[in-house]
Amino acid sequence: MEVRRCSVLFFEPLESASFSLAVLLGGGDGLERRRSWRALAPHLSEGAVDVADWMVQTLGQCSPSRWSRADTLSLAPEQLQALLDTGLLVSDAAEPAWRQHREADERLREANWWPLAAAYAARGRWSQIDSAADMERNGTNTIAGLVGHFGTPRPEPQPPIDLRLGPGVATEFDAVLRRRVTCRNFSGEPLPLSAFQTLMERVFAATHVVEPAPGLRFLKRSSPSGGGLHATDAYLLVQQVEGVPPGLYRYLADSHSLSRLPSPELPLDQLATAMVAGQHWFSNAPVMVALVATYRRSFWKYRNHTKAYRALVLDAGHLSQTLYLSATEMDLGAFVTAAVNEHQIEQMFGLDALTSGVIAVCGFGRRRPALRITEFDPGNAVWPATTA
Ligand SMILES: Cc1cc2nc3c(=O)[nH]c(=O)nc-3n(C[C@H](O)[C@H](O)[C@H](O)COP(=O)(O)O)c2cc1C
Repeated sequence: MEVRRCSVLFFEPLESASFSLAVLLGGGDGLERRRSWRALAPHLSEGAVDVADWMVQTLGQCSPSRWSRADTLSLAPEQLQALLDTGLLVSDAAEPAWRQHREADERLREANWWPLAAAYAARGRWSQIDSAADMERNGTNTIAGLVGHFGTPRPEPQPPIDLRLGPGVATEFDAVLRRRVTCRNFSGEPLPLSAFQTLMERVFAATHVVEPAPGLRFLKRSSPSGGGLHATDAYLLVQQVEGVPPGLYRYLADSHSLSRLPSPELPLDQLATAMVAGQHWFSNAPVMVALVATYRRSFWKYRNHTKAYRALVLDAGHLSQTLYLSATEMDLGAFVTAAVNEHQIEQMFGLDALTSGVIAVCGFGRRRPALRITEFDPGNAVWPATTA
């Protein structure tokens, strides 16, 4: 059997503390502190695995590029097996779990990730998190609870004012800007097809496709994009749009069309709630859009680039703001959230996290007539003073 080290690997030293009577009786603070290692490796489905000290040493001596015979590592058979089971040492063996690790490592090698960004993106993914329930549990869903939990923020030093600026010249655009408020009160009624089409076209469609060299295509969209590469694709969960069967879709920017994805096993409303990590105030939006970075499109140019991932996150932010403003102008509500269950979204849409990353989820639709969940509308631009 031939082996080599996985391509991207970082080690995080951890310390855990637990109460110990022996430490207390010995004159200490009563806490026994244990140190251990966690390996951060983006090709693993969780992005990390706990490892023993000897594994850190051994992996440090393995080449990530050159295959060598396993017996050259001078490991006992059970040590070799344990290391292969972690997925940090990959082999050419046919054992299904080891083969899966090797194939994931190969996809990562081909993707041109900057290693720190790969580790960060892999490790920040959530699975089956209910952030609404978590906030209720720890009380951070109210202002009093927030202050109780964190205290008041430390005051920031204020620079002196040297020049006061006068008011800008207001146009209708300013009224749209003022009415932009994150919507947490969707009506649950179907969205007319024309509104859906208009919004998708405004935000996600290519207004132009330019091909300056064979196979090299640049889209023009209403939002800017790092390198003009527009690596962000829109994956849709449609619950209620007139004329569009409920289901999962990929939006195709150059043809302004939908490609239907296989029907999921779970009902759409359950998937919608999972997408936004239990935030029920978003989950009845008639349309949800997962903003998915197709890394290959960006990393084709930005290979092993320290800024590439940052640019992709910014791209998603631009698209979400264009969505907010477009929806506002059409008297619709919109939201964006980064509190999302990436693992479940990847499963729903059939995405491989090493090549396609969920950066955020947006949604849009009609607001209900009465406010139930708080929105941040201090100017009463959307909600009358009595309700907001
Ligand atoms: C990156 C990002 C993530 C957000 N995540 C959440 C979220 O998880 N839940 C939520 O209710 N609002 C979320 N929001 C909305 C913010 O809470 C909202 O923008 C903020 O409270 C200000 O209100 P406004 O958008 O109405 O001005 C998010 C906004 C941004 C830009």
